[in-house]
Amino acid sequence: MSRRLLLKNGTVVDPSQNLTAKRDVLIERNIGHGTRVIGKIVAVAENIVAEDAEVIDCTGKLVVPGLVDMHVHFREPGEEHKETIATGSAAAVAGGFTTVCCMPNTIPPIDSPLGIGYILWKAQNESKCRILPVGAVSIGLKHEMLSEMGKMCEEGAVAFSDDGAPIQNAGFLRKVLEYAKICDLPVMLHCEDKSLTEGGVMNSGRVALSLGLRGMPPEGETIAIFRAVELAITTGTRVHIQHISVGRSVELIRMAKEMGAKVSCEVTPHHLVLTEEAVEDYNTFCKVNPPLRTREDVEMLIEGLNGGVIDVIATDHAPHAIEDKEVEFEKAAFGTVGLETAVGVIIGELVMKGKLRLERAIECMSTSPAKILSIDAGTLKVGASADVTIIDPNLEYIVEPSEFKSKGKNSAFIGWKLRGKAIITIVNGEIAYCEMKRGES
Ligand code: DOR
Repeated sequence: MSRRLLLKNGTVVDPSQNLTAKRDVLIERNIGHGTRVIGKIVAVAENIVAEDAEVIDCTGKLVVPGLVDMHVHFREPGEEHKETIATGSAAAVAGGFTTVCCMPNTIPPIDSPLGIGYILWKAQNESKCRILPVGAVSIGLKHEMLSEMGKMCEEGAVAFSDDGAPIQNAGFLRKVLEYAKICDLPVMLHCEDKSLTEGGVMNSGRVALSLGLRGMPPEGETIAIFRAVELAITTGTRVHIQHISVGRSVELIRMAKEMGAKVSCEVTPHHLVLTEEAVEDYNTFCKVNPPLRTREDVEMLIEGLNGGVIDVIATDHAPHAIEDKEVEFEKAAFGTVGLETAVGVIIGELVMKGKLRLERAIECMSTSPAKILSIDAGTLKVGASADVTIIDPNLEYIVEPSEFKSKGKNSAFIGWKLRGKAIITIVNGEIAYCEMKRGES
């Protein structure tokens, strides 16, 4: 294996350098501390010649900083029949992601330094991408006792989250934010006021009424965001609001940012293209939490991305066993897988249709989440870690879950014709995924 890798003739899209241009990218793998191999970007320029390098012809392809997904659920430990770190990370690299943040709502939850250590140890042995563990905010995700945040931070947690079990008590949330501030890590919040959403299974409104299903009103999200941003302001803690789904949430977060709150937020690909109408035939694969909303909400979310209020696109990859989805709508689990369709949905449905600039899409899927997490990723600058994704923007394919690397086949996009796909994913200078011919120069 050559020590150097030359990505030739691609269009480099690197929002961290404001660069969209034909460039070659040279990667070098060296032995770092101990026997660990470290891959770095060593040159980005027009027409690089490197005789000993393996050359990959990237003509017609996009060469972008490795994608970062700050919101995934790999069900390990406890529910390995749904997803493991091995299968989830295989899905991640197949989707173009080089780094993912694993949410702590496993069984048991990742609420201790031991849990963080376990995820990192598993990742070291079994993962194809970089895995960053997120610690639970409370023991057992029960919101009674704070978790050992300081120790989890020392062990390698990159953030804390209540995802899957939204905090209801403002006093407890304030304590969480005060402690997280000491560690200087962001708190990722699933904003949902259960007094408004309990028992709901989809967006409230006309469609829920016609289906005879109980709704979750938009205020279930906006009221919880109100509280979160107010406490972000008073505590000064960095708060990242997860998977926003309501148009008015964009407005609230815009106001919070203007008031100086250290808030950021994310949106999922499914909330950017699907509406509540997707569940009209009781399609449980489109049952997600927060629920799919209205066309107006979708338009406001896209506007929020374009205007810079929404910082990140994250998948909320939520694999489920088929028996948890093939039941009555009310009883089905919430969630859709997303790692292997995100690029196709964002490029094919938004960028190609003129709704989102390509540079902004890459920024929201790489540079911006890396910045929020303060990690060495999201850039192709010389000296950065060699995490790179090569995308064929014109590759069309039909979504067929049997082809997924993920164990989760519960995709909201089954049968969709998508356009745009990661064809090579490079993690730390190593090719972790490839569906293209390779050859030595
Ligand atoms: O749809 C969802 N699925 N939303 C969540 O908040 C949790 C997630 C899961 O863990 O399945």
